[in-house]
Amino acid sequence: MTHDLVITGAQVVCPGGISACDIGIAHGRIVTLGNGLTGAEVIDATGLIAMPGGIDSHVHIAQPSGPGVEMADDFASATRSAACGGNTTIMPFCLPEDGQTLREAVVAYNAKAEGQCLTDVSFHLIVKSVDSVTLGQDLPALIGQGLTSFKVFMTYQGMRLTDGEILQVMDVAREQGALTMVHAENEDAIEFLRDKAERDGRTQPVHHARTRPVPVEREATHRATTLAEIADVPVMIVHVSNGAALEEIQRAKSRGVRVFAETCPQYITLTADNLDKAGFEGAKWVCSPPPRDMEEQAAIWAGIEQGAFDVFSSDHCPFRFADPAGKDAPGARASFRNIPNGIPGVETRLPILFSEGVSKGRISLETFAQITATNHARIYGLEHKGSIMVGKDADIVLWDPALTRPIKQDALHHGSDYTPWEGFEVTGWPVRTILRGRTVVKDNTPVGEAIGTHVARAKPEVTP
Ligand code: URP
Ligand code: ZN
Ligand code: ZN
Repeated sequence: MTHDLVITGAQVVCPGGISACDIGIAHGRIVTLGNGLTGAEVIDATGLIAMPGGIDSHVHIAQPSGPGVEMADDFASATRSAACGGNTTIMPFCLPEDGQTLREAVVAYNAKAEGQCLTDVSFHLIVKSVDSVTLGQDLPALIGQGLTSFKVFMTYQGMRLTDGEILQVMDVAREQGALTMVHAENEDAIEFLRDKAERDGRTQPVHHARTRPVPVEREATHRATTLAEIADVPVMIVHVSNGAALEEIQRAKSRGVRVFAETCPQYITLTADNLDKAGFEGAKWVCSPPPRDMEEQAAIWAGIEQGAFDVFSSDHCPFRFADPAGKDAPGARASFRNIPNGIPGVETRLPILFSEGVSKGRISLETFAQITATNHARIYGLEHKGSIMVGKDADIVLWDPALTRPIKQDALHHGSDYTPWEGFEVTGWPVRTILRGRTVVKDNTPVGEAIGTHVARAKPEVTP
């Protein structure tokens, strides 16, 4: 059999282990894994590692972010950045504007993404209000169309749901076989601490971290997993930042609750001290939950090493720093309360984990593939993605494990004007990103057309 494309010479990270085979690709799919394959095009990948293309299942793109505030990425820049960072699929959120239904929001986000994307895209929903149209019509219809997961927030004014509302949403998830993702932080506790800090004049960016301490997340994680237990549904706790929250997850699992856990690069590499820079600069690291300290980083690493985390995502939520439509929003210098939450990271997620995890010997290549691609596909129902296996989409990234260079804003492709990891030394970079058999990035340069498309998903595997 001849192929459209053959990749030879790489160490191939397959679900069953690492293999020194060729990868034969035809019509965008992997059709042969073997030796001596022939093809119309051959890529000699000697000395490189062939990984399943990264799936980043937690990114925010072009979301409404408050009056006058704009996210730094549209779908063109976000997917360009994602592909340069070794991703072939991203999973952004559809957030309805005020007065818009969820179904209208999905139409609007598809229009924003159409024809713009260098990676494939599969949307989650955000449920920020609980009404009969959302619960009774929109969610069932959208789940039926393959948007089989949605996020609910226990924090952020205007977004948070009450416990009773979360239970109602989880009940729809149970009936329809969808997965609920929870942002677990206790808004009332944050509000209490925030008001007090402002009254005392503690308004600098670092107080964002100090008014969202670990117990705020630990309590909400306990509550979220308990609500899932009561509703009898699986739940994904997103962006877990500390050991105490992880313990709540482990405790719930030991009671038989089906809890999945996600963590992100910021919780293994950054600390609250980053927010404590002189003047306003700490705003660059304002995200929720905030980065913690070295002890919590160690707890998150222990969780990664022990398999407690199912997925490692970026929570890419990019704003520009030197911009009144970004971190420097009106009122942000007067109080951390007004600093838009979120940091850019879709391009640096995989290099950071490869370097800190694989290159430093903390995790294997197989674990890296699982928590950056395979598990995302399995849990969220991306049937043709996430593994180098015959029958899957030929979403493959070639990594140079020996390439060492620091992260530099100048070399990134996102729309933000800074990276929280400026100067961070990384060993192991993606050098070629292949989406459905076509090269979309080579040597850190986007090439080719915006062939990314929306991918509908099956029901999550965890559904009873
Ligand atoms: O600060 C963050 N993480 N912003 C993005 C929205 C969210 O909560 O995930
Ligand atoms: Zn969140
Ligand atoms: Zn997020």
